[in-house]
Amino acid sequence: MAAGKARAAGAPREQWTGQVGFILSAIGSAVGLGNIWRFPGVAYENGGGAFLIPYLVALLTAGIPILFLDYAIGHRFRGSAPLSLRRLGGRTLEGLGWFQVAIAFVISLYYTAVIAWALSYFVFSFDLRWGADPAAFFQGDYLNVGEPGFSLEFVPGVLIPLVLVWIVTLFVLGSGVAKGLQRANVIFLPLLLVAFLVLVLRALFLPGAELGLNALFTPNWAALADPNVWIAAYSQIFFSLSIAFGIMITYASYRARRANLTGPGLVVAFANSSFEILAGIGVFATLGFFAAQQGILVDDLEGLTGVGLSFITFPAIVSEMPGGPFFGILFFGSLTLAGFTSLLSVLQVVSAGVQEKFGLTRLQATIGMGGTAAVLSVLLFSTTTGLLALDVVDNWANNIGVVGSAVLTSILVIWVLRKGPELQAHLNAVSTFQVGKVWIALVGVVAPIVLGYMLISRIVSLVLEGYGGLPGGYLGVFGWGTIALIVIAAVVLTLVPWRRSDLDRFDTWPPLASDSQRKEAGR
Ligand code: ALA
Repeated sequence: MAAGKARAAGAPREQWTGQVGFILSAIGSAVGLGNIWRFPGVAYENGGGAFLIPYLVALLTAGIPILFLDYAIGHRFRGSAPLSLRRLGGRTLEGLGWFQVAIAFVISLYYTAVIAWALSYFVFSFDLRWGADPAAFFQGDYLNVGEPGFSLEFVPGVLIPLVLVWIVTLFVLGSGVAKGLQRANVIFLPLLLVAFLVLVLRALFLPGAELGLNALFTPNWAALADPNVWIAAYSQIFFSLSIAFGIMITYASYRARRANLTGPGLVVAFANSSFEILAGIGVFATLGFFAAQQGILVDDLEGLTGVGLSFITFPAIVSEMPGGPFFGILFFGSLTLAGFTSLLSVLQVVSAGVQEKFGLTRLQATIGMGGTAAVLSVLLFSTTTGLLALDVVDNWANNIGVVGSAVLTSILVIWVLRKGPELQAHLNAVSTFQVGKVWIALVGVVAPIVLGYMLISRIVSLVLEGYGGLPGGYLGVFGWGTIALIVIAAVVLTLVPWRRSDLDRFDTWPPLASDSQRKEAGR
């Protein structure tokens, strides 16, 4: 125990090698499956061009302010989500930190599965393996989809790439912040950008591309009156910016003491949104080509959102287009790279949390936490029931878990503990771009009202209307059951004693007026 304490408390904190390494890693985390797989369909379904208004409002009123909040907490209190929040606000906030860790753990289980599918489809692109009927291939030959339930019938085509994704991911995590995470991002993010730019340029020159762009960007102004469109915009921003589930707290904790926070934060936020809009342009230009080939309108195409868009509609298009295999390789290669660099950040949240709490080395945490996650991920998502389970777990983890975490963070930090001014002063003491009282108002008033409304209306609709026509018992186990497990994990992990001695004695830099008050109060 004593050795564990000494190790955990005494070792110097790992760091990014500099600002560029941090910015690339934070963009690598933000740009993920959410940008390519989710955004184009969400924008199209929610008012097209008009969706850009709620999207930008969500970015400016909640996305960037909560990104700054995460940065301030991680940088000032220098720990994983549970440790930073514990230092900020005692046990209650530590529980919130573990809630975030548990959400990240759950997301990692299915996020890896989608990366494994993308990797398989990267390989399938070489010989257009899906043949003439990509829908039947995806659900039948590839995933072998069965009835809703839980089966232990493994699908080797998913199992093998899934295990491979886990091995590579755990290897990178085990190599550390600078030598593992940062190095992977510095290599893969530029590769992703080049591959994706080539893909979008190719898409823009396809015959019919303009039909797709018109379909995506023609504004349906009436959509702005629909609260669900606003909810969709806020949900998209949270998942996409990697905020409110521990990632940015953890990443900011590895920045040097004297590190600019808000300037790079703006770079990360706008880079992420630019990539997202670029993805919308690339995907819809391609859909325009497909519709023109069939002599129909883009609006009459099927499978324009979610899993179907990437794994059924896109393969169908790739089969039709000249030089299709190359386009498929670029698309699925981009999806794999974008997902991989985000997955690293999701798992680092869990790894850092358990390392610090249990006094483990990086390797012990990677093997213990990663091994458990890998086994669960394989059991749940490489079987014949994987696709359905994935859809349900994803919906609950994001719409209830992440949004709930954001609401709780803003209420507890700003209203209950009244830490807004301290965090504002911290951001301003280290950063070039200063935040004013309006930041506290956005985090403390706008975010909880909008997000609280979103959360309640989602819960009501899931309870009253269910989801995807699935049986109530199934949603109870995979949807509400996931949330129950996340809460139980958070409570249990909070109750476990810490194996470190520097919970309350830690150095905050730069010192603020509130620090001397804290010392006087004996904390
Ligand atoms: N931010 C990551 C994504 O968009 C998690 O997929």
